[in-house]
Amino acid sequence: MNDVLARLRSLQATDLPVHGGRTLAYVYDSGLTDVDEVARTAVAAYAGSNGLDPTAFPSLLTMENELVGFAANLLDGPETMVGTVSSGGTESVLLAVQGARDAHPEVAKPNIVVPSTIHAAFFKAAHYFGVEARVVPVGPDFRADVAGMSAAIDSSTVLVAASAPSYAHGVVDPITEIAAVAAARGVRCHVDACIGGWVLPYAARLGRSVPAWTFAVEGVTSISVDLHKYGYTPKGVSLLLHRTPALRRPQYFAHADWPGYTMLNSTMQSTKSGGPLAAAWAVVSTIGDEGYSKLSDEVFQAVDEIVAGIEQIPELSVVAQPDSTLIALGTSEACDPFTICDEMAAAGWFVQPQMAFGGSPATIHLSVSAATLPHVEEFLAALGSAVSAAVASGPVRVDAEVVAFIESLDPDALSDDDFDGLLAASGLVGASDDGELELPTRMAEVNAMLDVASPRMREALLIAFLDRLQRPTR
Ligand SMILES: Cc1ncc(COP(=O)(O)O)c(C=O)c1O
Repeated sequence: MNDVLARLRSLQATDLPVHGGRTLAYVYDSGLTDVDEVARTAVAAYAGSNGLDPTAFPSLLTMENELVGFAANLLDGPETMVGTVSSGGTESVLLAVQGARDAHPEVAKPNIVVPSTIHAAFFKAAHYFGVEARVVPVGPDFRADVAGMSAAIDSSTVLVAASAPSYAHGVVDPITEIAAVAAARGVRCHVDACIGGWVLPYAARLGRSVPAWTFAVEGVTSISVDLHKYGYTPKGVSLLLHRTPALRRPQYFAHADWPGYTMLNSTMQSTKSGGPLAAAWAVVSTIGDEGYSKLSDEVFQAVDEIVAGIEQIPELSVVAQPDSTLIALGTSEACDPFTICDEMAAAGWFVQPQMAFGGSPATIHLSVSAATLPHVEEFLAALGSAVSAAVASGPVRVDAEVVAFIESLDPDALSDDDFDGLLAASGLVGASDDGELELPTRMAEVNAMLDVASPRMREALLIAFLDRLQRPTR
């Protein structure tokens, strides 16, 4: 057993650290080690419990209802508000779209109206549920265009959605106006607050200027908010909240017409571990309202210091003044953003590249955590050095012939062999001396190549890449 655990630890050493405030995407760190310990204990205690049946595991139902109650207080939930715990932001979004679609069986070709900055999870939902995603370009401030969204709504629109805030730019959409437009047409309006929902209410209490976006806004029918982001809980917990039980009803699924138990689900999963829910309940109960207020104060201090520091680096700019805890960094022409990401990684910081989109160049994403605050000075020094290194090494150019070649390809017409050739040429996949698949350590060249590819080609290449990675080890 000790051998297994030793191997587990050595495997985990190859991953990004989840604590320490140096990983600025994917993970969210409160920096509170005692809270992390409580979370681990709760996950372990409930790892084998099954959230499939609340009569068999009533404690999970109690914890779910208490978490939803906490959220109701935080997000101005009316007396009628109800909620469900899901496994993450994507599942909450999937359920919001599925519920909206199924509320309108009379609509033959349902559509959802979303700003171009909406999270990719909505496109997954559209893909899964056969719903058209009507994408409305955002304005120059990266916020949803209310008039454009209003014009896109028609009699087959089952849902309008917007973000609080958007992942890529960290700004809150004009929810009041969008919800009013949706309500006037009798359409559901979902606010995707997966990443901001547990921190924006505290920002408002701290006196920061936050546009209205909660259930206090008339016309908002549902909100998704993830606990495994700024609730600082272990992974696997999000909330999907509805203004009334009637709005939630189409989300339920039951099947009694088979010889086994009646399957009765409120989420996409049926059997589900009680671990994440128990851990979220334990973390939220331990941190509490006051604790979240303090953590929010810390994270916003870190955001302000980082923004101020970036403004001192001439090659960098903040793409949009952040409404929340996410920062998008732009770079001057002399300075390749992907090289900065590599340099930061070499210095022990993970920052996330975002590809060019809709005429805007590539950027660097930062999800700031409370645990980053004590390290801001160090972070800014590392960023300054990374920028100097990127300027010194110059822009990463993709060979014009490679660009032309990629542009000439139709991703739908490529064979597996073509993809193998492309993956090798792109540097995404190499082979070590013993023929094993090897991942690149520096990503700048790979990212530069992906950046010039069309989104469709990028998707196809990365799917081929993942397919090659997911092969059994015998
Ligand atoms: C705004 C927003 N919505 C949805 C999601 C999807 O959440 P998850 O990765 O938990 O599925 C994210 C994730 O970052 C997000 O930022």
